[in-house]
Amino acid sequence: MKTLVLYATQYGYTAECAAKLKAELSGDVTLVDLEKQRAPGLADYDAVIVGGSIYMGRVQAKISEFCAANEGELLQKALGLFLCCGLPQNLEESLSASFPKALRKHAKSVGCFGGELRTARMKPMHKLIAGMMQKVGGKNGIEPPKANPQAVLDFAAAMNA
Ligand SMILES: Cc1cc2nc3c(=O)[nH]c(=O)nc-3n(C[C@H](O)[C@H](O)[C@H](O)COP(=O)(O)O)c2cc1C
Repeated sequence: MKTLVLYATQYGYTAECAAKLKAELSGDVTLVDLEKQRAPGLADYDAVIVGGSIYMGRVQAKISEFCAANEGELLQKALGLFLCCGLPQNLEESLSASFPKALRKHAKSVGCFGGELRTARMKPMHKLIAGMMQKVGGKNGIEPPKANPQAVLDFAAAMNA
């Protein structure tokens, strides 16, 4: 079984989730950061997992563009889709905005791995928005973004099944 995990990240949380997936998935697993590397041809892979992080309601353009360009081939694979995000309560909207409907329907596993606001490394505009997210969330009783390592394990188990 050969699995390709394609991901995009801004501050590294998604990359860490992808690395955990590689450790948990059975068979031969290849990780590709789409912001830094080109996607290999999909023909060699039995399974493909695609994921990224949500910024202002959308996943990275590299992820949505890859899905749009390869939709037909992805529909022939065991497919996994995942998002890292700070507002899991908005997951359905985030998924709809990020992945084509046909792929969401076809996916063997769809995961939400939570998120982390890594403010120390953020560019100023992102730091400002992260601060607003925390402040507005706090006022409205919304939990601050947090990692969900169990969701990564559950997703890997579903893909391995
Ligand atoms: C500027 C900014 C905007 C964000 N917008 C959203 C959003 O619209 N919805 C959401 O669920 N999470 C949002 N988040 C949370 C990120 O998705 C979360 O921090 C994620 O873990 C980032 O992963 P990365 O380090 O791999 O890029 C936002 C974070 C920042 C800094």
